[in-house]
Amino acid sequence: MLISFEGIDGCGKSTQISLLKNYLDQKNFKNHLFREPGGTEISEKIRSLLLHESDEMDSITELLLFSAARSQLISEKVIPLLKMKDIVILDRFYDSTTAYQGYGRKSSSLEHIHLLNSIASHQIKPDLTFYLRIDPEVAGKRTQNTEKDRMEKAGMSFFKNVAKGFDELSKSNKRFVTLDAAREVEIIHKEIIEAVENHL
Ligand code: TYD
Repeated sequence: MLISFEGIDGCGKSTQISLLKNYLDQKNFKNHLFREPGGTEISEKIRSLLLHESDEMDSITELLLFSAARSQLISEKVIPLLKMKDIVILDRFYDSTTAYQGYGRKSSSLEHIHLLNSIASHQIKPDLTFYLRIDPEVAGKRTQNTEKDRMEKAGMSFFKNVAKGFDELSKSNKRFVTLDAAREVEIIHKEIIEAVENHL
């Protein structure tokens, strides 16, 4: 089973992912967690280009680098693990590309981005996508004192467009479970567990 987590920066994704991972470990479900961009040697190198380089990056270059990192992770790690029937959790997947590069940067048409997403993911689709939905202003307050990576420096109007992207994706895809991320951590965790158990 493939589970992805999505949402804008500051939505509380990391907390929920580690709670789910602990739960699966305790239940002895074989599971693996990867972050995007990253998760393999090549993908981590691409990650540092994407997040830590300060030079101006062309928006199509950015789109292609996120996709390149994804292709390597999916072929090297995710596909073999899914074949063994393990659970794979992805901290972001191609919906982030649609939301950030499509709706946020407007790098290319959504049609092109969907096609690229399907190529880079080797046509693998998540069984479940948890979307931690939060107001961009509230998320911005949560991250205001943390060090910003290249993407996070993009500003409020960018994040509002990204959030709109996730909202639209969540409405048009049945695999999405939308969670109000402004609530208590434990309440959100319970809903995640329920949805996962219904899929096992
Ligand atoms: P990361 O530090 O992992 O942030 P987070 O904890 O919010 O996931 O950085 C990933 C950043 O890259 C984040 O700002 C979202 C962005 N991103 C894209 O713009 N496109 C993508 O396809 C992916 C996977 C991530």
